[in-house]
Amino acid sequence: MNLAYVNGQYLPRLDAAVSIEDRGYQFADGVYEVIWLKNGTLIDEAAHFKRLKRSLKELSIAMPTTERALSIITHELIRRNHAKQGDYMLYIQITRGTARRNHLFPKATRPSLVMTLTRFTPPTEAEINKGVKIITHPDIRWGRRDVKSIALLPNILARQKAGEAGAREAMLVNGDTVTEGSTANIFIVKRGVLITHPADNQILNGVTRLAILALAAKLQIKIEERAFTTKEVAAADEIFISSTTAGVLPVSQLDAKKITVGKIALKLYAAYQDYVSAQC
Ligand code: PDD
Repeated sequence: MNLAYVNGQYLPRLDAAVSIEDRGYQFADGVYEVIWLKNGTLIDEAAHFKRLKRSLKELSIAMPTTERALSIITHELIRRNHAKQGDYMLYIQITRGTARRNHLFPKATRPSLVMTLTRFTPPTEAEINKGVKIITHPDIRWGRRDVKSIALLPNILARQKAGEAGAREAMLVNGDTVTEGSTANIFIVKRGVLITHPADNQILNGVTRLAILALAAKLQIKIEERAFTTKEVAAADEIFISSTTAGVLPVSQLDAKKITVGKIALKLYAAYQDYVSAQC
């Protein structure tokens, strides 16, 4: 049976619930993380928990437990779900808690903590070699995209449009600038240089993004962390996306334009696979 953790209890997932007055439900007043659980190991665990703490701090939401307790709960959820083999997404959501609806922060409310484990299949090598389609879509999100907030309405609308177009991801654009995808970061390669948007308030600083940048530096690939335009993407030699669930995923079509899956993307894919395996 799949068990979820909800505010102190491990419950059958279908019975697990929070109050209708949870501020996550009413205001999207909360943050989340998605971590890859591979054969019992949480990949880049420390980086995900560091980002979770940062997101909470930026929104003045308290940690619902100590860090040590959070880690114990996580590992207990994995144990109770017999999830030590295979690939799962650990989803962690923390909201400001439950209180009568009022825009002001409630004074004496404990944050809500929910965790679930869901099986998933990382892209296969055949999918990596084939690449995926992405579409261009306006970025209509708020000004603090660096916070992993559960307010994902613009993201889901863009992702839905991508799905309707038979695409895996929507490349979000602000005016002329490409920020990231609706659920992933975006990299382009031009003349051997790896280019991605800098980690400012315009994008979520992906944990996978950070790992890729470190691996690229080790492989002596030239890196430019800077804003780039839709024109540059159209003229790029390679495009790929990155996230916890996609890993390094090459793009083979942008809107109507076909793109060849490139050498640098495949090199970084292989390096990332080794990097992940080394943690397990
Ligand atoms: N998405 N940008 C956005 C907007 C994201 O939602 C994500 C992750 C990323 C990549 O971050 P990371 O490499 O840390 O997964 C970038 C997760 C997987 C999700 O919402 O399901």
